[in-house]
Amino acid sequence: MNTDFLEGLPLHALNPFMPGAGKQPPELVGRTHDLELMDRMIARTRLGLLDRGIIYSGLRGMGKTVLLLKLNDMAFEQGMVTVQIEANGDAEAEYDELMHELSLSIMRIRKPDIRQRLADVFSHVESISLDFVLGSAKVELRGPDAAERSVRASSYRLELLIEGLAAELGNNGLGLFLFVDEFQDMSADVMMTLITVQHKTGQRNLPFYVIGAGLPNLPGVLTKTRSYAERLFEYRVIGRLDAEAVADGFQKPAHELGYAFDHEALSRLVELSNGYPYFIQAYGKATWDASDSNPIAVDAVKRGEPVARAELDQGLYVSRWQRATPLGREYLAAMAAIGETCTSSQVAKHMNRSVSDLSSIRLALIELGLVYSPERGRIAFTVPGMDEFIRRVMPAEVQSYDGRS
Ligand SMILES: Nc1ncnc2c1ncn2[C@@H]1O[C@H](COP(=O)(O)OP(=O)(O)O)[C@@H](O)[C@H]1O
Ligand SMILES: [Mg+2]
Repeated sequence: MNTDFLEGLPLHALNPFMPGAGKQPPELVGRTHDLELMDRMIARTRLGLLDRGIIYSGLRGMGKTVLLLKLNDMAFEQGMVTVQIEANGDAEAEYDELMHELSLSIMRIRKPDIRQRLADVFSHVESISLDFVLGSAKVELRGPDAAERSVRASSYRLELLIEGLAAELGNNGLGLFLFVDEFQDMSADVMMTLITVQHKTGQRNLPFYVIGAGLPNLPGVLTKTRSYAERLFEYRVIGRLDAEAVADGFQKPAHELGYAFDHEALSRLVELSNGYPYFIQAYGKATWDASDSNPIAVDAVKRGEPVARAELDQGLYVSRWQRATPLGREYLAAMAAIGETCTSSQVAKHMNRSVSDLSSIRLALIELGLVYSPERGRIAFTVPGMDEFIRRVMPAEVQSYDGRS
């Protein structure tokens, strides 16, 4: 790349690193396989061949959101109809958002004739009166109240709409891609509808794909909602990056700008990042700002370290810690004292309480997205490094549990 135009700009003004939830990194490293998978899905869709949807699961800060955004871009660039939403647990709001985003996605289509045909599908579905379906004995709700009726109607509408759109798109070698972030938080009703629709469109050979992302418990939540969800999707774990990918995550953006990290700086940065994408951005940004040389040297890494740690504290840990109630914090501190993952009974023992005493606190922490249950009876932090943060910031609290055990 010709970097002449950068001449004279102060180094920090060029800082390419982007710490922050959902912020596109300058270089999306370690995701070649996922990008290829998407390329293949798009190519197959063009040929009228079907694939399974994809479910990504992983801890916070691993890069699920930016991966979904990237895959969305790829599909959109290739003329596919794409929609992206973030689940929030409120069925009515989720249905509204889906309808809204679907209508926007139709308007974004560049080819006027296809756009018109999809808009017709939309108006048709909007115009259908669902009263007769809702009133029939087949519907499990007898005399449902207004809110339930409206959720039911939304579910039918969404199903009709997705089927109609996918059928029309399929005739044109295109497909409908629905990206769902924080999928584990989705209301049971909407999740059920989406899984059912994915199932039915698959059977009818209609190109509709749910590409979801969420916490490590997501696959379990999906199969609990509908056992056949296990077969509907390809499940992929978004875990830590290997050292080579991490090194690329630092070096490539620097090279783009005519800079480099020297060998010692790079190996220290790889060590500090520990394979976590969010950490690459935080340490990359802080090191860059602390450097006044090219290549960037290890003393800049050292100077940047406390800044990066503060950035990670703010971006990943502090707000989550503050969301917990005092008792919730006690629970978290006990977990941190024990280690990265532990069992509910170890926590209870640490706190001198019974497991059942603590079950509602545990549930509240799960609902806040602070912890999750990797398997029955176990409990773990959703954010990598949260245990270390708590031990560093709350040494007194953590120690008091240590003393008791
Ligand atoms: N593959 C990657 N390479 C480099 N940086 C990444 C990568 N994936 C994510 N990041 C960075 O990590 C941070 C967290 O990404 P995000 O997608 O919000 O994670 P998640 O949704 O899993 O919590 C962002 O600053 C993003 O730029
Ligand atoms: Mg995310």
